[in-house]
Amino acid sequence: MYNLSNYLLSVQSNWYVNQPLIKAIDETVPMIAKYKASSGTHTLEPTPVFKMCKRVFPDIYKVPLLRRQYCTMLCEEIELMKNSIAFVPNDDEDELRQIPEIVLKDHIPDLYRNMWFLVKTVINPILMSLYCRDNLDIASVQIANYSPKEKKKGAWHHDDSCDISVVIPLNTGKYEGGGTEFYNKGTLNPLPNGHALIFPSFNNLHRGLAVESGDRYLLVFWLVDKNRTLEIAKEVLA
Ligand SMILES: [Fe+2]
Repeated sequence: MYNLSNYLLSVQSNWYVNQPLIKAIDETVPMIAKYKASSGTHTLEPTPVFKMCKRVFPDIYKVPLLRRQYCTMLCEEIELMKNSIAFVPNDDEDELRQIPEIVLKDHIPDLYRNMWFLVKTVINPILMSLYCRDNLDIASVQIANYSPKEKKKGAWHHDDSCDISVVIPLNTGKYEGGGTEFYNKGTLNPLPNGHALIFPSFNNLHRGLAVESGDRYLLVFWLVDKNRTLEIAKEVLA
């Protein structure tokens, strides 16, 4: 268990969110509420949040989400964390797809709590704006570390444990190489720090591109709609 040394990282508030995005969310939430209240008989017009998102490939978007200062603070904290927690591969994934990571729920509960708050108040309104679907439940949030040692492990994969993936670079410019390739869609250079790459997980085969030098840190959210998943599981297992 790791206790955050920087108090600001554990404060539950939206100070660390891109401020124009916060403003757009305030204007968007009533539109979403109205859409939901209509049970699908009303159309959700493009929201202010939707207008902030840039489509990079079909169904794949980027949006400035976290403030740069927050990314810098988190990277400083990662350096401290490394003294007590190791980045370890996820044994649930097969070897070619394992990237060393720190799972927040297991190791940094203070940060996990804040990320839970971020999902409910910021990320979900973005997903509602993009896909008209809630993804309020966290399958996992982790800090991943791509480095030259992991070159061979950037194999093609789907993020199988979730519906939507949100990937936020924390230290772009501090390493060489990196980026993401989407099958049949194209290649994306590392986004600026704090900008989220958002994509539906199950139909977007992708791979991380090799990092040539340095460490590439990413904050990765795997999100699901638990109720929907439970319903499907019940039907499949019945
Ligand atoms: Fe992935």
